[in-house]
Amino acid sequence: MRILLFSGKGGVGKTSVAAATAIRLAESGRRTLVMSVDPAHSLGDSFDIGGGLFHGKTSEPIQAADRLFLQEVNINHEIKHYWADISAYISSLLRTAGLSGVEADELAIFPGMEELSAMMYVNQFRKSAEFDIMVLDCAPTAESLRFVSLPTTLDWYMKHIFNFQRGFLKAVRPIAKRVAPVELPPDRYFANIQELFDKIQGIDAVLEDPEITSIRLVTNAEKMVLRETQRAFVYFSLHGLTVDSIIVNRLVPPEVSDPFFEGWRQSQASIVGEIEEYFAPVPVRRVPMFRREVVGYERLRELADTLYEPGEDPAAVTRKSTPFEFVREGGRYEVRMDIPFAEKAEIGLFKKDDELVVEIGTIRRHVGLPTTMAGLEPAKARLDGRKLVIEMSQGK
Ligand SMILES: Nc1ncnc2c1ncn2[C@@H]1O[C@H](COP(=O)(O)OP(=O)(O)OP(=O)(O)O)[C@@H](O)[C@H]1O
Ligand SMILES: [Mg+2]
Repeated sequence: MRILLFSGKGGVGKTSVAAATAIRLAESGRRTLVMSVDPAHSLGDSFDIGGGLFHGKTSEPIQAADRLFLQEVNINHEIKHYWADISAYISSLLRTAGLSGVEADELAIFPGMEELSAMMYVNQFRKSAEFDIMVLDCAPTAESLRFVSLPTTLDWYMKHIFNFQRGFLKAVRPIAKRVAPVELPPDRYFANIQELFDKIQGIDAVLEDPEITSIRLVTNAEKMVLRETQRAFVYFSLHGLTVDSIIVNRLVPPEVSDPFFEGWRQSQASIVGEIEEYFAPVPVRRVPMFRREVVGYERLRELADTLYEPGEDPAAVTRKSTPFEFVREGGRYEVRMDIPFAEKAEIGLFKKDDELVVEIGTIRRHVGLPTTMAGLEPAKARLDGRKLVIEMSQGK
């Protein structure tokens, strides 16, 4: 099974490229699901599936063509199924805070719920093997990062907070009921969280396995977009995911001879050069700007024809190197991470229990250390070309 996750800055063409890839895969004989993980769904629109029919009705996959299924996760539907106790508790808290019922229900959809629901489906379909390939159409970069960092965040929460909180509440509930200013979460709330956690169990290993999951970054040949693509590359790597291609979309095609576009063409050519240099050895694909919007099956199929060679398999595993390595060399232990564009100034490192915490800018990752390194402290870090090398030692 393969999972292909498309991410990138807002509006660069993620949905179109994901949909086109799914079409190519289904036509080549694989059972393919393309799932929208973006709360602002546009997958149905991209396929031009009739007048909002798709929206709001279901969270289940619908069939769009032979072997091709589309799914937009519908959060209201999800809440009824999976989040009932959690959201009922949160909205009762918000009501206590003076909000009206409807407002409280709206606000009880907290950030990450949608991504988490999508992840539960991914895990479910992985286990049931209903599909050969899942193509994930993600929200703009920041939210996609939340999607991939959720399993580690939740794992951390379950290990460090959840059990403590649950035990603590059991002990204080009889007294607290009388004096607490807000309602305490009922036991069902915890059972519900536990159940959700069980549903995504194992997904982190799936996302971090380059033979299963590949990240594809869609970008445009513009400076601002490129910066965000670089940041995304760093952050995905930090979370242990493998980026296996960069797709540069909307290039002015060679047949356009209008002088107005000449400046664009030149700057795009120079930025594509930069992109190739920056991301090497990750392959870079190019997609021209089309004459019209890329909407509907036929246009998406044309897009697939510019993206992939005839007979090429868009799901082939081309990169197997994981962004993380734990190495022992001589008597020295090192953690090596592929994070080519990080600046030394923005990297923070510290140790917490048996985890190494790496911060790059505002993103933080808890890296579980292998047992041989769990007792060690980060001693030194250096940027070695495209790698961050963290030397671990006995500490004081
Ligand atoms: N190569 C292209 N040529 C012409 N139009 C394109 C091309 N790629 C995408 N488009 C059009 O650009 C618009 C935005 O594309 P799309 O929805 O795929 O971007 P997105 O990255 O998914 O956006 P969002 O961040 O809002 O989810 C759509 O109308 C799409 O049809
Ligand atoms: Mg989109």
